[in-house]
Amino acid sequence: MNYQQLKKIVGFYSRFTASFTQVGYRWRSLSWDKFTPDYHGQHWLVTGGSGGIGRHIVLEAARAGATVTAVARSESKLGTLRDDARKAGIAGVETECCDFTLQSDTERLLRRLDASGRKVDVLVNNVGVLLDDLSVTAEGRESSFVSNLLSHYQLTEGLIRTGLLAGPRATVINMTSGGGYNMPLMVAMLNVTDPAKYNGVFAYGFHKRAQMVLNQHWRDTHGSRGIAFYVMHPGWADTDGVKRSLPRFRKILRPILRDAAAGADTALWLAGTRPAQPEHELVWFDRAIRPAHVYERTRATKDTPRSLVAYLESELARQPTASA
Ligand SMILES: NC(=O)c1ccc[n+]([C@@H]2O[C@H](COP(=O)([O-])OP(=O)(O)OC[C@H]3O[C@@H](n4cnc5c(N)ncnc54)[C@H](OP(=O)(O)O)[C@@H]3O)[C@@H](O)[C@H]2O)c1
Repeated sequence: MNYQQLKKIVGFYSRFTASFTQVGYRWRSLSWDKFTPDYHGQHWLVTGGSGGIGRHIVLEAARAGATVTAVARSESKLGTLRDDARKAGIAGVETECCDFTLQSDTERLLRRLDASGRKVDVLVNNVGVLLDDLSVTAEGRESSFVSNLLSHYQLTEGLIRTGLLAGPRATVINMTSGGGYNMPLMVAMLNVTDPAKYNGVFAYGFHKRAQMVLNQHWRDTHGSRGIAFYVMHPGWADTDGVKRSLPRFRKILRPILRDAAAGADTALWLAGTRPAQPEHELVWFDRAIRPAHVYERTRATKDTPRSLVAYLESELARQPTASA
């Protein structure tokens, strides 16, 4: 490791460690008002709901009265979630299987939801992965691009189009990451399928930045219908995702990483309080508004929300729809 790399690592950890770990969560929570959630009568849809932060959101939202549809890939993990909810005396946890790396599978999910006719009050676009190795789907896309961004767009727009997600109570919460703070919006870097050019950490950062931009786009275009759109950062929580993708990071910080409850807290709070937010781009973290950019350099980009959405639309348009 050379001096510049060392300086970068020291700078990174000294800037974010206290804030993003359990230390920051505990410290900030000392000044919070008591929050007693009540989600009775609401239907939630939580993607990536069988593990990590998503699983905690599912169980706590259901405990506070919501009917929650947890969506994930593995039926056996969803079964464990249902069993655990039942054993804990929590009613209202339902599940749907969907692989969000595939447009066709998300399309099938949308059709099932549409057929049910049941409205969604709270959508949590939580699924997100950092893949060290390039994985290209059967539909020809870089897998994490689809799970981290394209599927969020497809699902959210699909629910709005079918009228299942509609105001005035409707809320969308997008789970971003500090990885996005390192990257500007760069549409050309979202879906890198060339092994020589793929870097998993960079890809994740570009997806998470695009997610912040997309959230602002949705606020601008759908906000007047009464739908509230939030983008939030959960902090650094000890989950299977972190264990799998960032083993060294986890080894160093494990004693002070957040638990899934702390990671999920802001999502549960946002859905319960639906706070007003200023018009400019921002990120929620530990129940407060934070800047969308921590480094000036990430503001510079030739891309725009419009070019991002045009790209996502063109991707969705080029795929055959799922067979019924
Ligand atoms: N943990 C952190 O410190 C941290 C920090 C910043 C941001 N975040 C963000 O927070 C969100 C949750 O993170 P996490 O750490 O809780 O994740 P995690 O532990 O990896 O949780 C994974 C969940 O997502 C599901 N999932 C993964 N790929 C899927 C796919 N293709 N289709 C359907 N479901 C899929 C998993 O179900 P299956 O096993 O069935 O696939 C599981 O339910 C992510 O967006 C992440 O980027 C996390």
